[in-house]
Amino acid sequence: MQLQEVVPWGRSLDEYRGMFALSETDLRGRLLSCGDGPASFNAELTAVGKSQRLVSVDPLYVFAGPEIATRVEQTYQTIVLQVKLNHDRYVWSYFKDPDALGTARLNTMKIFLNDYQAGRAAGRYLVAALPELPFNNGEFDLCLCSHLLFLYSAQLSADFHLASMLEMLRVAREVRVFPLLDLDLQRSAHLDPVIAGLRSANFYAEIVDVPYIFQKGGGQMLRVVHNGQRIDEDPQPGKNRG
Ligand SMILES: C[S@@+](CC[C@H](N)C(=O)[O-])C[C@H]1O[C@@H](n2cnc3c(N)ncnc32)[C@H](O)[C@@H]1O
Repeated sequence: MQLQEVVPWGRSLDEYRGMFALSETDLRGRLLSCGDGPASFNAELTAVGKSQRLVSVDPLYVFAGPEIATRVEQTYQTIVLQVKLNHDRYVWSYFKDPDALGTARLNTMKIFLNDYQAGRAAGRYLVAALPELPFNNGEFDLCLCSHLLFLYSAQLSADFHLASMLEMLRVAREVRVFPLLDLDLQRSAHLDPVIAGLRSANFYAEIVDVPYIFQKGGGQMLRVVHNGQRIDEDPQPGKNRG
């Protein structure tokens, strides 16, 4: 698939459950989701009221709802066409065909948009961009990152990946990232260096099989946890990284 930049394209709560193998315990915790864009994860999970805390961050949230809708609609044509051209490179079990995929993504965006204004007012949708997060150390139990890191390996450098992982691990006890393939459906060239960097910084990192698969060979996430290091409480958001 050929994309020049990171595009807004959102997935549902059911997909997040599968991509990150989320348990009921995971969902009840303090959750942060980075690069959430027009996903309906936050809206749907808030509607069932499970999580102790749930925040989505994305630079896209600087825009109002109608502007986001326009961007997603522009993305729609490009992605559905690219997926049609590369039909055999995807697994057609969750979605029956590229049009069903496109319809599901527009539906996800509608659920997101219906919640967006209330969510912004409640602080559930925050404008922020990796590799910097406006949170104190250890504010979250689990941080998710879907379809940004590793997927956009051609657009985002290895240094950006490692800095982003370390920043997410600064604010959360555990980080999960999906997928691990890039847009060409190849294992990301940044994956092994990032894992090595995290291990040498004394984090525990593992690749885990998950129930969700769309890119052929793409049913895996990266899971990283603190290896017994203490996360110092920090009253100054955005300070004391590392
Ligand atoms: C393909 S969408 C994925 C949306 C959602 N996570 C999902 O899987 O449905 C990628 C998102 O990453 C966001 N993004 C781009 N650069 C970012 C950055 N530096 N930090 C956080 N998010 C970023 C984009 O605005 C876009 O909404």
